[in-house]
Amino acid sequence: MWDERFRTDEYVYGTAPNDFLVRVADQLPEQSRILALADGEGRNGVWLAKQGHHVHSVDGSKIALEKARVLAEQADVSIEFEQADLINWRWPQNQYDAVVAIFIQFAGPEVRRRLFKDAIASLKPGGLLVVQGYRTEQLAYGTGGPPQEENLYTEQLLKSELSGLDVLMLSAHDCVIHEGMGHSGMSALIDYVGRKP
Ligand SMILES: C[S@@+](CC[C@H](N)C(=O)[O-])C[C@H]1O[C@@H](n2cnc3c(N)ncnc32)[C@H](O)[C@@H]1O
Repeated sequence: MWDERFRTDEYVYGTAPNDFLVRVADQLPEQSRILALADGEGRNGVWLAKQGHHVHSVDGSKIALEKARVLAEQADVSIEFEQADLINWRWPQNQYDAVVAIFIQFAGPEVRRRLFKDAIASLKPGGLLVVQGYRTEQLAYGTGGPPQEENLYTEQLLKSELSGLDVLMLSAHDCVIHEGMGHSGMSALIDYVGRKP
């Protein structure tokens, strides 16, 4: 399904980085080792690499990865790309200064809880988890994101499922975003940054 979505000359979520990621990026130590989860066509991984970070960009879609490689080449940055199914991935342990999870809402509750647990385990102590996703209220806007309510976030859900982290930021808000044709218009968002103790 994802390959089909990405099989177009356009970058479905644009080539500019996610605004929230740009806003919080000053919290990342210089030259961080960063895992960009479900990084798609690479807009976020490439931008992080341009800031001097060492990026491991993982996504399940072969087509998305091909487009991400082109974006990285154009930006003249080097990224460790990997095509993998994160649901059955051998997650590195205690490896990353940050894990970036921008719109990775492809999983229902059971798998999501496992993914969050794995993401936390992959962080070094003191590492940051950066998450932006859609809230359940997004269903009424219909401007992007999965149609399954159970895949969407609430503040309570993130607090509970990421309880292993110290919360540095948790903000639910509605705003207009323009991220290619995939995310476009008024959106019900939630921003999260947590630190592994
Ligand atoms: C909404 S897109 C977001 C892409 C990127 N994070 C961004 O913000 O531009 C969701 C991404 O999840 C990836 N994905 C879906 N299921 C996956 C899985 N099981 N393992 C790895 N990646 C997956 C898709 O290929 C797609 O790139």
